[in-house]
Amino acid sequence: MKHELRSKLPRLSDWNFPASARAKSLPAVLGVAHLFVVVACGAGLPHPSSQHLSVAQKSEPQVSLGDLDRGRSLYVAKCGSCHALRDPKSLAPPQWQHEIDEMESKQGVHLKPAESHDIFRYLAAVSGAEKR
Ligand code: HEC
Repeated sequence: MKHELRSKLPRLSDWNFPASARAKSLPAVLGVAHLFVVVACGAGLPHPSSQHLSVAQKSEPQVSLGDLDRGRSLYVAKCGSCHALRDPKSLAPPQWQHEIDEMESKQGVHLKPAESHDIFRYLAAVSGAEKR
């Protein structure tokens, strides 16, 4: 996945700008990188807000902020050991469900059904919200 991530970003060595132009463009590159990966420990990963909650409650009216917070913690605990955590907004909810299923079936990630649902619910709520 590291390889795949890198392939989505422009490589500095491919660029042929004068140094002054490169300095101006670098923040733009970092902005792109931020879209795809959140640091492994979960710093920068959004904490559930009332906006995320209203997204989640469209599918599950009983959901609480505590449920979303548990999903965030599980995402950090269960999904950050092999690779950096992806920004929840980088995938749409159905893609998240697919990735979680793949991690379980192909990468041997062990999750209880309630845990994978908590993780999905958190990722889908953040992904589906307009702002972070
Ligand atoms: C045991 C190690 C391991 C754990 C734990 C793990 N993954 Fe992965 N993950 C991988 C590997 C290896 C790949 C690259 C192969 C692939 O894409 O199937 C990957 C790829 C991915 C990708 C695709 C990345 C991309 O840029 O296309 C996503 C999204 C992802 N994982 C999400 C998760 C989530 C969510 C969890 C927690 C439920 C998780 N991973 C836990 C090993 C792991």
